[in-house]
Amino acid sequence: MTAANLLLTTCILILFINWACTEDNSNHTLKYVLYWTSYNVAPFYFIGKGQENLIKKKCPVNNCYMTTDRNFFGGDLTKFDAIAFNGRNMNIRDIPHNRSEHQKYIFFNMECPIRLPTCEAVFDGFYNWTSTYKLHSDIPYPYIIIRNKVTKEIVGPKADMQWADLPDVDHKIINKIANKTKLAAWFASNCRSPSRREDYIRELKIAVKPFGHEVDIYGKCGNLDCPKTKRNYCDNMISQDYYFYLSFENSFDEDYVTEKLTRALNYNAVPIVYGGADYSRFLPPGSYIDARQYTPTKLASLLHEIFGSPQRYRDFFKWQNVYSYSDPTMSKNICDVCAALNDQHKMETKTVYSNIRDWLLGSNLQRVCNIKKAKQVRKPVSSLFPPIY
Ligand SMILES: *[C@@H]1O[C@H](CO)[C@@H](O)[C@H](O)[C@H]1NC(C)=O
Ligand SMILES: *[C@@H]1O[C@H](CO)[C@@H](O)[C@H](O)[C@H]1NC(C)=O
Ligand SMILES: *[C@@H]1O[C@H](CO)[C@@H](O)[C@H](O)[C@H]1NC(C)=O
Ligand SMILES: *[C@@H]1O[C@H](CO)[C@@H](O)[C@H](O)[C@H]1NC(C)=O
Repeated sequence: MTAANLLLTTCILILFINWACTEDNSNHTLKYVLYWTSYNVAPFYFIGKGQENLIKKKCPVNNCYMTTDRNFFGGDLTKFDAIAFNGRNMNIRDIPHNRSEHQKYIFFNMECPIRLPTCEAVFDGFYNWTSTYKLHSDIPYPYIIIRNKVTKEIVGPKADMQWADLPDVDHKIINKIANKTKLAAWFASNCRSPSRREDYIRELKIAVKPFGHEVDIYGKCGNLDCPKTKRNYCDNMISQDYYFYLSFENSFDEDYVTEKLTRALNYNAVPIVYGGADYSRFLPPGSYIDARQYTPTKLASLLHEIFGSPQRYRDFFKWQNVYSYSDPTMSKNICDVCAALNDQHKMETKTVYSNIRDWLLGSNLQRVCNIKKAKQVRKPVSSLFPPIY
Protein backbone atom coordinates (compact mmCIF):
# COMPACT_ATOMS: atom_id res chain seq x y z
CA MET A 1 0.00 0.00 0.00
CA THR A 2 1.41 3.38 -0.99
CA ALA A 3 1.63 6.21 1.50
CA ALA A 4 -0.97 8.12 -0.40
CA ASN A 5 -3.36 5.19 -0.33
CA LEU A 6 -2.78 4.72 3.37
CA LEU A 7 -3.50 8.36 3.97
CA LEU A 8 -6.69 8.14 1.92
CA THR A 9 -7.87 5.02 3.73
CA THR A 10 -7.16 6.60 7.09
CA CYS A 11 -9.03 9.68 6.11
CA ILE A 12 -12.05 7.72 4.97
CA LEU A 13 -11.96 5.76 8.21
CA ILE A 14 -11.82 8.93 10.28
CA LEU A 15 -14.67 10.45 8.28
CA PHE A 16 -16.70 7.28 8.82
CA ILE A 17 -16.08 7.23 12.55
CA ASN A 18 -16.93 10.89 12.73
CA TRP A 19 -20.17 10.32 10.87
CA ALA A 20 -21.08 7.24 12.91
CA CYS A 21 -20.42 8.93 16.23
CA THR A 22 -22.35 12.06 15.44
CA GLU A 23 -25.30 10.32 13.87
CA ASP A 24 -27.47 10.54 16.97
CA ASN A 25 -26.80 14.26 17.01
CA SER A 26 -27.38 14.65 13.29
CA ASN A 27 -28.80 18.14 13.39
CA HIS A 28 -25.59 19.76 14.57
CA THR A 29 -25.42 21.77 11.36
CA LEU A 30 -28.81 23.33 12.04
CA LYS A 31 -28.84 26.87 13.37
CA TYR A 32 -31.15 27.12 16.34
CA VAL A 33 -33.23 30.17 17.00
CA LEU A 34 -35.33 30.77 20.09
CA TYR A 35 -38.32 33.06 19.80
CA TRP A 36 -38.19 34.81 23.14
CA THR A 37 -41.30 36.96 22.80
CA SER A 38 -44.75 35.85 21.66
CA TYR A 39 -44.86 33.74 18.52
CA ASN A 40 -48.20 35.32 17.57
CA VAL A 41 -46.68 38.65 16.64
CA ALA A 42 -45.37 39.21 13.10
CA PRO A 43 -42.90 38.35 11.74
CA PHE A 44 -42.37 35.28 13.96
CA TYR A 45 -45.41 33.39 12.76
CA PHE A 46 -44.50 34.30 9.20
CA ILE A 47 -41.14 32.60 9.71
CA GLY A 48 -42.77 29.64 11.43
CA LYS A 49 -41.55 26.97 13.84
CA GLY A 50 -39.07 24.22 13.13
CA GLN A 51 -37.55 24.07 9.69
CA GLU A 52 -40.70 23.34 7.69
CA ASN A 53 -41.53 26.79 6.45
CA LEU A 54 -38.01 27.41 5.14
CA ILE A 55 -38.30 24.20 3.13
CA LYS A 56 -41.81 25.01 1.97
CA LYS A 57 -40.73 28.45 0.77
CA LYS A 58 -37.81 26.85 -1.08
CA CYS A 59 -35.21 28.97 0.69
CA PRO A 60 -31.75 28.47 -0.84
CA VAL A 61 -30.42 28.11 2.73
CA ASN A 62 -32.88 26.29 4.96
CA ASN A 63 -30.91 24.71 7.79
CA CYS A 64 -32.45 26.78 10.56
CA TYR A 65 -34.65 25.49 13.31
CA MET A 66 -36.95 27.87 15.15
CA THR A 67 -38.61 27.17 18.45
CA THR A 68 -40.56 28.88 21.21
CA ASP A 69 -39.37 26.30 23.76
CA ARG A 70 -36.98 27.89 26.24
CA ASN A 71 -36.22 24.39 27.55
CA PHE A 72 -35.24 23.05 24.13
CA PHE A 73 -31.63 22.46 25.28
CA GLY A 74 -32.65 21.51 28.82
CA GLY A 75 -32.86 25.19 29.74
CA ASP A 76 -29.37 26.07 28.52
CA LEU A 77 -30.02 29.22 26.55
CA THR A 78 -26.40 29.56 25.49
CA LYS A 79 -26.81 26.70 22.99
CA PHE A 80 -29.02 28.75 20.67
CA ASP A 81 -27.29 30.44 17.76
CA ALA A 82 -29.66 33.35 18.07
CA ILE A 83 -32.45 34.62 20.28
CA ALA A 84 -35.19 36.55 18.53
CA PHE A 85 -37.03 39.39 20.24
CA ASN A 86 -39.94 41.38 18.95
CA GLY A 87 -39.64 45.08 19.74
CA ARG A 88 -43.37 45.28 19.95
CA ASN A 89 -43.69 43.17 23.08
CA MET A 90 -40.38 43.30 24.92
CA ASN A 91 -40.71 43.12 28.66
CA ILE A 92 -37.91 44.41 30.89
CA ARG A 93 -38.91 41.92 33.56
CA ASP A 94 -38.41 38.98 31.23
CA ILE A 95 -35.00 38.88 29.64
CA PRO A 96 -32.74 35.82 29.17
CA HIS A 97 -30.60 35.02 32.20
CA ASN A 98 -27.64 33.49 30.39
CA ARG A 99 -25.92 34.73 27.31
CA SER A 100 -23.17 33.37 25.13
CA GLU A 101 -20.56 35.54 23.42
CA HIS A 102 -21.25 33.62 20.21
CA GLN A 103 -24.93 34.11 19.87
CA LYS A 104 -26.82 36.96 18.27
CA TYR A 105 -29.69 38.69 19.99
CA ILE A 106 -31.89 39.87 17.13
CA PHE A 107 -34.30 42.77 17.39
CA PHE A 108 -37.27 42.19 15.08
CA ASN A 109 -39.88 44.83 14.47
CA MET A 110 -42.43 45.38 11.74
CA GLU A 111 -44.33 48.20 13.37
CA CYS A 112 -43.39 51.84 13.71
CA PRO A 113 -41.32 52.40 16.87
CA ILE A 114 -43.55 55.31 17.77
CA ARG A 115 -45.94 52.59 18.85
CA LEU A 116 -43.31 50.57 20.72
CA PRO A 117 -41.96 50.67 24.25
CA THR A 118 -38.42 51.37 23.16
CA CYS A 119 -37.52 54.00 25.69
CA GLU A 120 -35.93 51.73 28.27
CA ALA A 121 -32.17 52.17 28.54
CA VAL A 122 -31.92 48.56 29.69
CA PHE A 123 -31.93 47.49 26.04
CA ASP A 124 -28.92 49.63 25.16
CA GLY A 125 -25.98 47.32 24.48
CA PHE A 126 -28.38 44.38 24.37
CA TYR A 127 -29.12 43.59 20.73
CA ASN A 128 -26.48 42.38 18.27
CA TRP A 129 -28.58 42.58 15.13
CA THR A 130 -31.69 44.30 13.86
CA SER A 131 -34.26 42.99 11.42
CA THR A 132 -36.82 45.65 10.55
CA TYR A 133 -38.27 47.54 7.59
CA LYS A 134 -35.42 50.03 7.88
CA LEU A 135 -33.23 49.32 4.90
CA HIS A 136 -30.01 49.62 6.90
CA SER A 137 -31.05 46.84 9.30
CA ASP A 138 -28.61 43.93 9.56
CA ILE A 139 -31.27 41.71 8.05
CA PRO A 140 -33.66 44.05 6.24
CA TYR A 141 -37.29 42.92 6.59
CA PRO A 142 -39.12 45.24 4.21
CA TYR A 143 -42.78 45.05 3.17
CA ILE A 144 -41.84 45.52 -0.46
CA ILE A 145 -39.32 44.18 -2.94
CA ILE A 146 -38.76 45.49 -6.42
CA ARG A 147 -37.60 43.24 -9.24
CA ASN A 148 -36.46 43.87 -12.74
CA LYS A 149 -39.53 42.69 -14.63
CA VAL A 150 -37.51 40.89 -17.29
CA THR A 151 -34.59 39.33 -15.42
CA LYS A 152 -36.54 38.93 -12.12
CA GLU A 153 -33.43 40.13 -10.31
CA ILE A 154 -34.11 42.00 -7.07
CA VAL A 155 -33.14 45.63 -7.56
CA GLY A 156 -34.70 47.42 -4.60
CA PRO A 157 -35.76 49.10 -2.47
CA LYS A 158 -32.41 50.74 -1.84
CA ALA A 159 -31.14 53.92 -0.24
CA ASP A 160 -29.36 54.90 -3.44
CA MET A 161 -31.79 53.55 -6.01
CA GLN A 162 -30.78 54.06 -9.63
CA TRP A 163 -34.04 54.09 -11.58
CA ALA A 164 -34.00 53.17 -15.25
CA ASP A 165 -35.35 55.44 -17.96
CA LEU A 166 -38.92 54.33 -18.46
CA PRO A 167 -40.39 53.65 -21.91
CA ASP A 168 -43.87 54.82 -22.88
CA VAL A 169 -46.82 52.68 -21.87
CA ASP A 170 -48.10 50.11 -24.36
CA HIS A 171 -51.62 49.12 -25.32
CA LYS A 172 -51.83 46.37 -22.78
CA ILE A 173 -51.48 48.90 -20.01
CA ILE A 174 -53.75 51.43 -21.66
CA ASN A 175 -56.49 48.80 -21.92
CA LYS A 176 -56.13 47.85 -18.27
CA ILE A 177 -56.90 51.39 -17.13
CA ALA A 178 -59.43 52.27 -19.83
CA ASN A 179 -62.70 51.73 -17.95
CA LYS A 180 -62.04 53.59 -14.74
CA THR A 181 -64.67 56.07 -13.60
CA LYS A 182 -63.99 56.80 -9.93
CA LEU A 183 -61.42 59.12 -8.43
CA ALA A 184 -59.95 57.56 -5.31
CA ALA A 185 -60.36 54.82 -2.73
CA TRP A 186 -59.09 54.38 0.80
CA PHE A 187 -59.25 51.10 2.73
CA ALA A 188 -58.57 51.20 6.45
CA SER A 189 -59.54 49.83 9.81
CA ASN A 190 -57.41 52.04 12.05
CA CYS A 191 -59.16 55.38 12.09
CA ARG A 192 -57.16 57.20 14.75
CA SER A 193 -53.54 56.94 13.72
CA PRO A 194 -50.34 58.65 14.88
CA SER A 195 -49.88 60.09 11.37
CA ARG A 196 -53.37 61.66 11.52
CA ARG A 197 -53.99 60.47 7.97
CA GLU A 198 -57.70 60.37 8.77
CA ASP A 199 -57.72 64.16 9.20
CA TYR A 200 -56.05 64.72 5.83
CA ILE A 201 -58.43 62.33 4.11
CA ARG A 202 -61.49 63.95 5.67
CA GLU A 203 -60.41 67.29 4.23
CA LEU A 204 -59.55 65.77 0.87
CA LYS A 205 -62.99 64.19 0.69
CA ILE A 206 -64.57 67.60 1.15
CA ALA A 207 -62.18 69.27 -1.32
CA VAL A 208 -62.96 66.90 -4.23
CA LYS A 209 -66.73 67.35 -3.94
CA PRO A 210 -66.93 70.66 -5.89
CA PHE A 211 -65.25 68.85 -8.82
CA GLY A 212 -67.99 66.22 -8.72
CA HIS A 213 -65.68 63.55 -7.31
CA GLU A 214 -65.69 61.28 -4.29
CA VAL A 215 -63.06 59.74 -2.07
CA ASP A 216 -64.58 56.34 -1.35
CA ILE A 217 -63.72 55.10 2.11
CA TYR A 218 -63.98 51.35 2.71
CA GLY A 219 -63.87 49.69 6.11
CA LYS A 220 -64.34 51.00 9.62
CA CYS A 221 -63.34 54.56 8.78
CA GLY A 222 -66.02 55.13 6.17
CA ASN A 223 -69.46 54.09 5.00
CA LEU A 224 -68.47 51.56 2.33
CA ASP A 225 -67.68 47.94 2.82
CA CYS A 226 -65.48 45.50 0.98
CA PRO A 227 -64.65 42.79 3.52
CA LYS A 228 -61.21 41.22 3.82
CA THR A 229 -62.83 37.86 3.06
CA LYS A 230 -63.52 39.11 -0.47
CA ARG A 231 -59.97 40.24 -1.03
CA ASN A 232 -59.84 39.30 -4.74
CA TYR A 233 -63.12 40.99 -5.48
CA CYS A 234 -61.94 44.18 -3.75
CA ASP A 235 -58.56 44.14 -5.48
CA ASN A 236 -60.24 43.80 -8.87
CA MET A 237 -62.60 46.59 -8.02
CA ILE A 238 -59.63 48.89 -7.33
CA SER A 239 -58.13 47.90 -10.64
CA GLN A 240 -61.33 48.34 -12.63
CA ASP A 241 -62.80 51.47 -11.08
CA TYR A 242 -60.31 53.71 -9.35
CA TYR A 243 -57.80 56.22 -10.70
CA PHE A 244 -56.03 56.60 -7.39
CA TYR A 245 -55.48 54.54 -4.27
CA LEU A 246 -54.57 56.15 -0.95
CA SER A 247 -51.47 54.36 0.33
CA PHE A 248 -51.46 56.28 3.59
CA GLU A 249 -49.31 54.94 6.41
CA ASN A 250 -50.58 55.01 9.97
CA SER A 251 -47.22 56.34 11.24
CA PHE A 252 -44.28 58.27 9.92
CA ASP A 253 -40.90 56.61 9.97
CA GLU A 254 -37.85 56.16 7.83
CA ASP A 255 -38.48 53.38 5.26
CA TYR A 256 -41.87 52.61 6.74
CA VAL A 257 -43.71 51.78 3.53
CA THR A 258 -46.18 48.93 3.78
CA GLU A 259 -48.20 46.62 1.56
CA LYS A 260 -50.65 49.48 0.98
CA LEU A 261 -48.26 50.67 -1.70
CA THR A 262 -47.88 47.27 -3.39
CA ARG A 263 -51.65 46.92 -3.49
CA ALA A 264 -52.07 50.14 -5.48
CA LEU A 265 -49.26 49.24 -7.88
CA ASN A 266 -50.36 45.67 -8.47
CA TYR A 267 -53.99 46.64 -8.98
CA ASN A 268 -53.43 49.39 -11.50
CA ALA A 269 -54.24 52.41 -9.38
CA VAL A 270 -51.85 55.31 -8.97
CA PRO A 271 -50.64 55.42 -5.37
CA ILE A 272 -51.08 58.60 -3.40
CA VAL A 273 -48.50 58.15 -0.68
CA TYR A 274 -48.39 59.68 2.79
CA GLY A 275 -45.63 58.52 5.08
CA GLY A 276 -42.24 59.23 6.62
CA ALA A 277 -40.13 57.42 4.05
CA ASP A 278 -37.98 58.84 1.32
CA TYR A 279 -40.17 57.47 -1.45
CA SER A 280 -37.45 57.77 -4.06
CA ARG A 281 -36.07 54.56 -2.50
CA PHE A 282 -39.30 52.76 -3.35
CA LEU A 283 -40.82 54.31 -6.47
CA PRO A 284 -39.55 55.64 -9.79
CA PRO A 285 -40.12 59.35 -10.36
CA GLY A 286 -43.46 60.11 -11.97
CA SER A 287 -45.17 56.94 -10.72
CA TYR A 288 -46.90 58.34 -7.62
CA ILE A 289 -48.19 61.44 -5.90
CA ASP A 290 -46.91 62.45 -2.48
CA ALA A 291 -49.79 63.90 -0.49
CA ARG A 292 -47.49 65.53 2.04
CA GLN A 293 -46.34 67.94 -0.63
CA TYR A 294 -49.83 69.39 -1.03
CA THR A 295 -52.63 70.72 1.09
CA PRO A 296 -55.81 68.65 0.72
CA THR A 297 -57.27 71.46 -1.40
CA LYS A 298 -54.26 71.59 -3.75
CA LEU A 299 -54.24 67.81 -4.02
CA ALA A 300 -57.93 67.79 -4.91
CA SER A 301 -57.39 70.09 -7.89
CA LEU A 302 -54.29 68.19 -8.98
CA LEU A 303 -56.22 64.91 -8.96
CA HIS A 304 -59.03 66.51 -10.91
CA GLU A 305 -56.59 67.77 -13.55
CA ILE A 306 -55.02 64.35 -13.97
CA PHE A 307 -58.45 62.72 -14.05
CA GLY A 308 -59.23 64.89 -17.05
CA SER A 309 -56.00 64.16 -18.91
CA PRO A 310 -55.69 60.56 -20.20
CA GLN A 311 -52.11 61.14 -21.38
CA ARG A 312 -50.97 62.48 -18.04
CA TYR A 313 -52.69 59.67 -16.20
CA ARG A 314 -51.19 56.98 -18.41
CA ASP A 315 -47.66 58.21 -17.80
CA PHE A 316 -47.91 57.17 -14.16
CA PHE A 317 -47.82 53.54 -15.35
CA LYS A 318 -44.56 53.68 -17.30
CA TRP A 319 -42.84 51.62 -14.61
CA GLN A 320 -45.01 48.59 -15.32
CA ASN A 321 -42.94 47.23 -18.19
CA VAL A 322 -39.67 47.65 -16.28
CA TYR A 323 -40.33 46.72 -12.64
CA SER A 324 -42.52 44.41 -10.61
CA TYR A 325 -43.47 44.78 -6.98
CA SER A 326 -44.15 42.09 -4.43
CA ASP A 327 -44.47 41.43 -0.72
CA PRO A 328 -41.48 39.49 0.69
CA THR A 329 -42.68 39.31 4.30
CA MET A 330 -43.65 35.65 4.05
CA SER A 331 -41.02 34.52 1.59
CA LYS A 332 -37.72 36.20 0.80
CA ASN A 333 -37.36 37.92 4.17
CA ILE A 334 -37.72 34.59 5.94
CA CYS A 335 -34.97 33.06 3.82
CA ASP A 336 -32.74 36.06 4.51
CA VAL A 337 -32.97 35.44 8.25
CA CYS A 338 -31.70 31.87 7.86
CA ALA A 339 -29.05 32.93 5.36
CA ALA A 340 -27.68 35.50 7.82
CA LEU A 341 -27.35 32.85 10.52
CA ASN A 342 -25.32 30.77 8.08
CA ASP A 343 -23.01 33.60 7.15
CA GLN A 344 -20.05 32.59 9.26
CA HIS A 345 -18.23 35.88 8.88
CA LYS A 346 -21.31 37.86 9.84
CA MET A 347 -21.98 35.57 12.80
CA GLU A 348 -18.43 35.77 14.10
CA THR A 349 -18.14 39.54 13.78
CA LYS A 350 -19.06 40.94 17.18
CA THR A 351 -21.58 43.71 16.83
CA VAL A 352 -23.82 45.43 19.33
CA TYR A 353 -26.33 48.28 19.33
CA SER A 354 -25.11 50.53 22.11
CA ASN A 355 -28.15 52.79 21.74
CA ILE A 356 -31.03 50.98 20.08
CA ARG A 357 -33.42 53.80 21.04
CA ASP A 358 -31.46 56.28 19.04
CA TRP A 359 -31.18 53.89 16.10
CA LEU A 360 -34.93 53.39 16.08
CA LEU A 361 -36.28 56.79 16.93
CA GLY A 362 -33.51 59.22 16.00
CA SER A 363 -34.68 62.78 16.36
CA ASN A 364 -38.09 61.61 17.60
CA LEU A 365 -36.57 60.00 20.67
CA GLN A 366 -37.25 62.74 23.21
CA ARG A 367 -40.76 63.37 22.04
CA VAL A 368 -41.84 59.73 21.87
CA CYS A 369 -40.24 58.72 25.14
CA ASN A 370 -41.59 61.71 27.01
CA ILE A 371 -45.09 60.94 25.79
CA LYS A 372 -44.68 57.37 26.95
CA LYS A 373 -43.40 58.38 30.37
CA ALA A 374 -46.26 60.79 30.80
CA LYS A 375 -48.75 58.09 29.96
CA GLN A 376 -47.09 55.60 32.34
CA VAL A 377 -47.37 52.82 29.81
CA ARG A 378 -46.96 49.84 32.10
CA LYS A 379 -49.61 47.48 30.83
CA PRO A 380 -48.43 44.46 28.83
CA VAL A 381 -47.74 45.87 25.43
CA SER A 382 -49.42 42.98 23.65
CA SER A 383 -52.74 44.09 25.08
CA LEU A 384 -52.17 47.66 23.96
CA PHE A 385 -51.23 46.77 20.43
CA PRO A 386 -52.87 43.52 19.34
CA PRO A 387 -51.51 41.97 16.14
CA ILE A 388 -52.82 43.72 13.06
CA TYR A 389 -52.26 40.80 10.68
C1 LIG B 1 -33.39 16.65 13.14
O1 LIG B 1 -34.20 17.29 12.16
C2 LIG B 1 -35.28 16.52 11.73
C3 LIG B 1 -35.95 17.29 10.60
O2 LIG B 1 -36.01 18.66 10.90
C4 LIG B 1 -36.21 16.21 12.90
O3 LIG B 1 -37.28 15.42 12.49
C5 LIG B 1 -35.44 15.51 14.00
O4 LIG B 1 -36.25 15.30 15.13
C6 LIG B 1 -34.21 16.31 14.38
N1 LIG B 1 -33.38 15.59 15.34
C7 LIG B 1 -32.83 16.15 16.43
C8 LIG B 1 -31.95 15.26 17.24
O5 LIG B 1 -33.03 17.31 16.76
C1 LIG C 1 -25.84 30.29 33.61
O1 LIG C 1 -24.45 30.40 33.46
C2 LIG C 1 -23.74 30.20 34.67
C3 LIG C 1 -22.27 30.47 34.41
O2 LIG C 1 -21.86 29.96 33.19
C4 LIG C 1 -23.99 28.77 35.15
O3 LIG C 1 -23.32 28.56 36.37
C5 LIG C 1 -25.48 28.57 35.34
O4 LIG C 1 -25.74 27.22 35.65
C6 LIG C 1 -26.24 28.93 34.10
N1 LIG C 1 -27.64 28.88 34.37
C7 LIG C 1 -28.51 28.27 33.60
C8 LIG C 1 -29.92 28.27 34.07
O5 LIG C 1 -28.19 27.76 32.53
C1 LIG D 1 -63.47 47.66 -20.52
O1 LIG D 1 -64.75 47.63 -21.12
C2 LIG D 1 -64.79 46.90 -22.34
C3 LIG D 1 -66.17 47.12 -22.96
O2 LIG D 1 -67.17 46.84 -22.05
C4 LIG D 1 -64.48 45.46 -22.05
O3 LIG D 1 -64.50 44.71 -23.24
C5 LIG D 1 -63.10 45.36 -21.40
O4 LIG D 1 -62.84 44.03 -21.04
C6 LIG D 1 -63.00 46.25 -20.18
N1 LIG D 1 -61.63 46.29 -19.72
C7 LIG D 1 -61.29 45.97 -18.48
C8 LIG D 1 -59.83 46.04 -18.14
O5 LIG D 1 -62.09 45.64 -17.65
C1 LIG E 1 -23.52 40.40 21.32
O1 LIG E 1 -23.66 41.44 22.26
C2 LIG E 1 -23.10 41.17 23.51
C3 LIG E 1 -23.48 42.25 24.49
O2 LIG E 1 -22.98 43.48 24.13
C4 LIG E 1 -21.60 41.02 23.34
O3 LIG E 1 -21.00 40.71 24.57
C5 LIG E 1 -21.33 39.89 22.35
O4 LIG E 1 -19.96 39.81 22.08
C6 LIG E 1 -22.07 40.11 21.06
N1 LIG E 1 -21.93 38.89 20.27
C7 LIG E 1 -21.88 38.86 18.95
C8 LIG E 1 -21.68 37.52 18.33
O5 LIG E 1 -21.99 39.82 18.24
